[in-house]
Amino acid sequence: MKRFLSGIQPSGLPHLGNWFGAVQMHLERAKQGNAYFFIADYHALTTLQDPEKLREYVREIAVTYLAAGLGETEAVFWRQSDVPEVTEIAWLLSTVTGMGLLERGHSYKDKTAKGIAASAGLLYYPVLMASDILAYDADVVPVGKDQVQHIEMTQDMAGYWNSTYGQTFRRPEWELSKTPKVSGLDGQKMSKSYGNALWIFEEGKALKKAIGRIATDSRPPDEPKDPKGLLLFEWLELLLPADELADLARRLQTGGANAPGYGELKARLVLAIETHFADARRRRQELLTHPEHIEAALARGAVAARAVAREVRDRALRACGLR
Ligand code: ADP
Ligand code: TRP
Repeated sequence: MKRFLSGIQPSGLPHLGNWFGAVQMHLERAKQGNAYFFIADYHALTTLQDPEKLREYVREIAVTYLAAGLGETEAVFWRQSDVPEVTEIAWLLSTVTGMGLLERGHSYKDKTAKGIAASAGLLYYPVLMASDILAYDADVVPVGKDQVQHIEMTQDMAGYWNSTYGQTFRRPEWELSKTPKVSGLDGQKMSKSYGNALWIFEEGKALKKAIGRIATDSRPPDEPKDPKGLLLFEWLELLLPADELADLARRLQTGGANAPGYGELKARLVLAIETHFADARRRRQELLTHPEHIEAALARGAVAARAVAREVRDRALRACGLR
């Protein structure tokens, strides 16, 4: 059975794009077995240098996965920094990796092109990510489009090492999620870094206010509209049952007195979000009253993950002559 592995950075509060683009897919994989998921906290240090925030985001990502039901599956779930072997393997990989490969990395290239000083950590980011994947003998890495280049770099690094020292690391493939792009409140791709994200557990007034911010045009409610072009409809498609969606689409297309206005669509969206996440929200609250359960779950995961990474690390040390 193929092994699935993926990581998510605790660089902000998890948003709807993360939920539909990553968490849901990870959960499906977890139910099938042989799945590994971790919180990439070492990676987050390349952009977040606020210890309190980092602790908060790690906890929120952990809670989100557990509230989604990951704890009821066999999946191994841990915090990256609980397995220091990955930094050791990253060092080994860096010794067979050319600077040219790293200098072609998108995030490094984009930053330096904008004249922003990049840390060595940002340049080295793909090596650590390759180690995250290779340390667990992963076969398939489910990710968003933006991460494909990193998986290709991982394949290259595994190849360099294996051709230097003999077969040591397993070559992984990537898999794209079914929802590769959820739009943000402004219509761009939703991202923690664009200020257009909606936190999964937003509720009450704050939720209403955020949805109120979704940009609409000035067409009157009775004017016929193509639902495909409406950001509000795109969001509703993630949340509503097919029959209700079909009815809404028909009323929008037909126009007239029966057509929903933007205000009605926004109110429906608020209700849909509150309903969709009601269970997970309740579980999140329960978990937060017992933070020791969150820690215990991550600690259990770390023991299982570390056992695998140690074995792979030893294999690599033997291959290159350090043992
Ligand atoms: P962000 O861009 O907000 O920093 P991350 O890079 O931490 O998000 O992404 C974590 C996971 O969520 C990745 O697998 C990524 O592909 C997925 N993801 C992030 N934003 C979206 C989005 N808007 N739509 C779909 N998937 C997304
Ligand atoms: N770079 C990934 C992101 O920003 C997070 C990540 C770190 C990751 N290590 C990984 C994803 C290993 C998959 C596999 O989303």
